[in-house]
Amino acid sequence: MAVIFPRWTNIMPTAVAVIVPVVGAVVVGVIWYWFSPMFTDVGYQPEQPVAFSHRLHAGEMGMDCRYCHNTVERAAMAAIPPTNTCMNCHKVVKADSEKLSLIRESHEGGEAVEWVRVHMLPDYAYFNHAPHLSAGVGCNTCHGQIDEMDVVTQDQPLSMSWCLDCHRDPGPNLRPPEEVTNMDWDTETADYTRQVDAEGHPMDASGTRTLVPPDNCGGCHR
Ligand code: HEC
Ligand code: HEC
Ligand code: HEC
Ligand code: HEC
Ligand code: HEC
Repeated sequence: MAVIFPRWTNIMPTAVAVIVPVVGAVVVGVIWYWFSPMFTDVGYQPEQPVAFSHRLHAGEMGMDCRYCHNTVERAAMAAIPPTNTCMNCHKVVKADSEKLSLIRESHEGGEAVEWVRVHMLPDYAYFNHAPHLSAGVGCNTCHGQIDEMDVVTQDQPLSMSWCLDCHRDPGPNLRPPEEVTNMDWDTETADYTRQVDAEGHPMDASGTRTLVPPDNCGGCHR
């Protein structure tokens, strides 16, 4: 009798059973990897309507972040400054600069400047700046070296696993709260010993309360 199916085809069912799921898993993995926030958000650098430079203002001129983002320590949101704040200086400094024409128009009663958001969590995730700053997490831990950026770029993934990595072990990321806007502070090299409780868990700077960043779902999805 003619051989219709050569002998090697006997392994086909096994091969299909083994190879298909493996290939499938690889495809899913690749998609997951590339489309997870780490690769869609890090490096996001939208063009802004006015060429405002943090490198110049916060870096070279050494302005404190809170001069402009003045709600960051007491509110969920770090306010984006109104044009009045800019005009404190630019009424006089570079008063005729073409690059500041939108700021002047806005100040003279025009529309607010429409800055493009860089960092943005989805609505279903809750974030508040204030408790992070009072616990001693610095701006550059989450936003990178803003003082070196001419155009703000997203430096960290802001993904759920990124939040949780710190929440499960915040100690190494903490500094004295008065240093949160110090962009030269490097938590890896700084000579700073954090207050810890009897079990070794990090405490607030006054050493009265153990920090408990939430890792339960309801902590961030309210
Ligand atoms: C002179 C005012 C001023 C100072 C000082 C300043 N900023 Fe800003 N910041 C702005 C303005 C205006 C924007 C919106 C335009 C932009 O994104 O560049 C902004 C945007 C940002 C954003 C992006 C916001 C978003 O859309 O996600 C971050 C993060 C930020 N600033 C952090 C800092 C940090 C950290 C410092 C201190 C090292 C600082 N800023 C100092 C004016 C200022
Ligand atoms: C623990 C991480 C973390 C720290 C520390 C932090 N930020 Fe943010 N920041 C975020 C996240 C996350 C967002 C996006 C929030 C959202 O979409 O709800 C954000 C958004 C912003 C924005 C846009 C406006 C807003 O509030 O949504 C500005 C401006 C800003 N941060 C400035 C600062 C400055 C200045 C500091 C230091 C004084 C700082 N941030 C410290 C994580 C952080
Ligand atoms: C504390 C004073 C001060 C504040 C507040 C300030 N600036 Fe400036 N800004 C300066 C100085 C100083 C320069 C550099 C001028 C020079 O190059 O001689 C400058 C330069 C600029 C330039 C470049 C202008 C050019 O023609 O090269 C832009 C754009 C600008 N600032 C935007 C802003 C915006 C937007 C704000 C508000 C969010 C702001 N500045 C707030 C002091 C300030
Ligand atoms: C580098 C460390 C770090 C990162 C990154 C971080 N957190 Fe936190 N988080 C903390 C610390 C420290 C506390 C303070 C806990 C306390 O005061 O007991 C905290 C507290 C919180 C709280 C409880 C306080 C409140 O506002 O109700 C929430 C919610 C929270 N974080 C959400 C987030 C989210 C969402 C992200 C990611 C987008 C994030 N955190 C990223 C360290 C971090
Ligand atoms: C420390 C804060 C934090 C905690 C705790 C947390 N999440 Fe999230 N979660 C986030 C943030 C931030 C995002 C949005 C991430 C992004 O932009 O992709 C998110 C996104 C999600 C998403 C959307 C899909 C995804 O992966 O992006 C789901 C589903 C989710 N969380 C479920 C949970 C569940 C279930 C728990 C409890 C086991 C939980 N989360 C605990 C911060 C948190």
